Amino acid sequence: MLDETVAVIENRPLTGGHFLLSLRSPHQAPLVRPGQFAMLRLPGHSDVLLRRPMSIYDVKLAHPQGSGKGKGNLPEIIQLLYKIVGRGTQLMAELRPGDQTEMLAPLGHGFFEEKYLEAARQADEVLHVAGGIGIAALLMPAKSLARAGIRQRLFFGARGVQELVGTEDFVPFVGETILSTEDGSCGTPGYITRPLEAHLENHRHQRFLLLACGPWAMLEATAEMACRHGCPCLVSMENRMGCGLGVCLGCSIRVRGEGHGSYERVCTEGPVFWAKHVMWERK
Ligand SMILES: Cc1cc2nc3c(=O)[nH]c(=O)nc-3n(C[C@H](O)[C@H](O)[C@H](O)COP(=O)(O)OP(=O)(O)OC[C@H]3O[C@@H](n4cnc5c(N)ncnc54)[C@H](O)[C@@H]3O)c2cc1C
Ligand code: FES
Repeated sequence: MLDETVAVIENRPLTGGHFLLSLRSPHQAPLVRPGQFAMLRLPGHSDVLLRRPMSIYDVKLAHPQGSGKGKGNLPEIIQLLYKIVGRGTQLMAELRPGDQTEMLAPLGHGFFEEKYLEAARQADEVLHVAGGIGIAALLMPAKSLARAGIRQRLFFGARGVQELVGTEDFVPFVGETILSTEDGSCGTPGYITRPLEAHLENHRHQRFLLLACGPWAMLEATAEMACRHGCPCLVSMENRMGCGLGVCLGCSIRVRGEGHGSYERVCTEGPVFWAKHVMWERK
């Protein structure tokens, strides 16, 4: 993990108040592994003191291979896909090319650990389950699982079609994408857990590994469904964070353990956990 001052290359507006922020970070980008996150500081704004946690959406080469400009094949750019929800993300949206910001990255245990990869290898198919901006945590895992030759399918639900961002980025890596919207503007009307449940019901003989990221209620419903269908399930948690470094304990969640259970920190023990390990108390 490194604390670096990084320069904005592009801050591209997408639909529904979403943006794709590209940051030049040649020291951090090569260290990033699937499912990790960054903490972004917005210097010069005394009302936004805490860094904001963001999943690392992707890492890129500074110059595409074959352009003749690149020095090597190590990534130099970190991309964050984000949605404006409050003051911090509003300030992020105001970043322009050439601006500088401070970033702590990469952080957390992602989807890359051997025990997770082993579960993916044992499955007939990996099912990614994304709710809203939770999609941002899943592109790098999808890329690395595709490199390992593992079959994948994406279930992506959002409030409306404007919030179904990034689907095209998954096309090369997943066999099929199933969409749903709460307002019925695209895909199956309602929550994404409905088509997911139908898929699990219709393919009872297959072994799945579920990887989910999204709002607490969606993760809880996905965890319950996975348990009922006997599928292993990993969840990437997006609790509010203070330090991102394991010090403040602000991101702790209750997990199963001895007696009444114990606590683990999303920033350091997570953000990825086995769903059955989490105590799904109401948030
Ligand atoms: C590990 C991790 C990865 C994340 N990855 C992404 C990502 O890739 N893209 C992205 O857009 N967001 C992501 N988030 C959520 C993001 O950090 C928050 O949306 C952001 O910090 C809000 O800052 P703000 O100042 O704009 O909003 P605030 O003014 O702090 O809050 C505005 C509203 O957003 C809610 N909110 C704040 N933080 C969270 C949170 N963590 N989860 C749910 N609701 C929250 C608040 O309750 C409030 O209603 C991630 C969070 C974590 C912990
Ligand atoms: S955010 Fe401080 S311990 Fe996790």
